[in-house]
Amino acid sequence: MGNKTWWKESVVYQIYPRSFKDTNGDGIGDLKGITEKLDYLKELGVDVIWLSPVYESPNDDNGYDISNYREIMKEFGTMEDWEELLHQMHERNMKLMMDLVVNHSSDEHEWFQQSRLSKDNPYRDYYIWCPGKDGKEPNNWESIFSGSAWQYDEQTDEYYLHLFSKKQPDLNWENPKVRREVYDLMTFWLEKGIDGFRMDVINMISKVPGLPDGEPQEGKKYAPGGQYYMNGPRMHEFLQEMNAQVLSKYDIMTVGEMPGVDPEQAQLYTGEDRNELNMVFQFEHMDLDSQPTGKWDLRPLRLIDLKETVTKWQKGLEDKGWNSLYLNNHDQPRMVSRFGDDGEYWLESAKMLGTFLHMMQGTPYIYQGEELGMTNVKFDSIEDYQDIETLNMYKERLEAGKDPSEIMHSIYVKGRDNARTPMQWDESEHAGFTTGKPWLKVNPNYKEINASKQVNDPTSIYNYYKKLIDLRKTHEIVVYGSYDLLLPDHPTIYAYTRTLGDEKLLVVSNFSKESSTFELPESITYRSKELLIGNYEVDENGEIEEFDLRPYEARVYKLKV
Ligand code: GLC
Ligand code: CA
Repeated sequence: MGNKTWWKESVVYQIYPRSFKDTNGDGIGDLKGITEKLDYLKELGVDVIWLSPVYESPNDDNGYDISNYREIMKEFGTMEDWEELLHQMHERNMKLMMDLVVNHSSDEHEWFQQSRLSKDNPYRDYYIWCPGKDGKEPNNWESIFSGSAWQYDEQTDEYYLHLFSKKQPDLNWENPKVRREVYDLMTFWLEKGIDGFRMDVINMISKVPGLPDGEPQEGKKYAPGGQYYMNGPRMHEFLQEMNAQVLSKYDIMTVGEMPGVDPEQAQLYTGEDRNELNMVFQFEHMDLDSQPTGKWDLRPLRLIDLKETVTKWQKGLEDKGWNSLYLNNHDQPRMVSRFGDDGEYWLESAKMLGTFLHMMQGTPYIYQGEELGMTNVKFDSIEDYQDIETLNMYKERLEAGKDPSEIMHSIYVKGRDNARTPMQWDESEHAGFTTGKPWLKVNPNYKEINASKQVNDPTSIYNYYKKLIDLRKTHEIVVYGSYDLLLPDHPTIYAYTRTLGDEKLLVVSNFSKESSTFELPESITYRSKELLIGNYEVDENGEIEEFDLRPYEARVYKLKV
């Protein structure tokens, strides 16, 4: 079952600072706001906070474009505020995981300012510059935020690579000086006492030499180049170097964000004898409701696919690595809207999804507001949206002649601003997030869905999450038990077991608004059973060989075998 460590036993809570809590009325969440709410998080039971970037940034991509890695973004506060936050967290026995965004920097970073000046500038090779090919971009790669991944720069008559926005030039990891800079800045924060890093798109730092063209797509000007920049040839070397030079010197937790990773690769990234990372964020379960052409091209999710993917990851890393568990974050739609029902069965389905996820093997991540069942949002006008990925896609598709209402539909279902609307604290104006004008509109449902309503309501999603987190603390099997899928072909029930010694957890979730009968496979025998948690009233003595699951019902039994 692998070694026992604190980061396997922890629950992580992700904060997107811009949208969490504003204390000075400028409409933007800030560090003081987080400090103010630490007791709320402590009460919930979270162990680790992952803070999305709080470094100096022109905010082209809300802090994921860093212009100074050692300074705090002015809008969020000062270094003193940050130190106070860390101090207050440690006082409460909570740990802090910082975001590390080093696949790219901001174009306003001093390194890039220097780099673009001349071809012989000492910082030139900090970034990836190439001359044009036949008067065009050096290759056909498409940016993840639409358009070409290359930007022409007149000053030196060359192009620079940007996998994301043109204000996010990719750093050149082939250059040992760049790697040294990164290790130094990591050490800077670790020496201040932080407890880990979440590493932004870290599996994109090694590009295939020569940067070959991607496979052209019909009717499209640019091609996806992922196979040449994800999980590239020097990935393990770079991570092992980073581990030797920095990570191994501290007792910390690391998670690498890795689009396009599969379980075999993840074994290598997270294997305990490999000295790379503790866990990765994989995306396979996030791609099941999209067409192969990308996230905006929708298709309905089939539960069978979710079972297959999740099981592949649960089994794939068993004893060989470690999973991170998530159903939403600042880049994804709200989970209750996506996998549950944000209407009639809002309460039940939010609890069901929490149960489904928290009983799996891996470290669970809660995204701010998830513990309240916050939902997706539908703003009437594109003007109300702020996210660069969304806005670029809208523009590109509009220019390509797509129907605006169809584009808006994709945004309602998949847009990142769904996750970024301000945290809903109470019923007062702007949900108690700010006394000013919020940088992004509040979800109009804040009067029904907010923290103040839920904290003292024993039947709330918040209190259900509290119980889920507590189960992890009080039952070793929740952390270390091995996973097995039941009923692989059932179209609406997701059932699995966890096994440790002579104990088993039986986790049964109905992913549908129709009732359905669960039948326990005969292979599962037991001497005694105990209901650990459920989102409906249940007769504790009722039999489990066969029972009806109500809409979005979830139950967890602990069996002695
Ligand atoms: C990651 C972040 C996302 C950001 C992108 C570029 O995917 O989670 O928010 O836009 O990297 O840094
Ligand atoms: Ca503020």
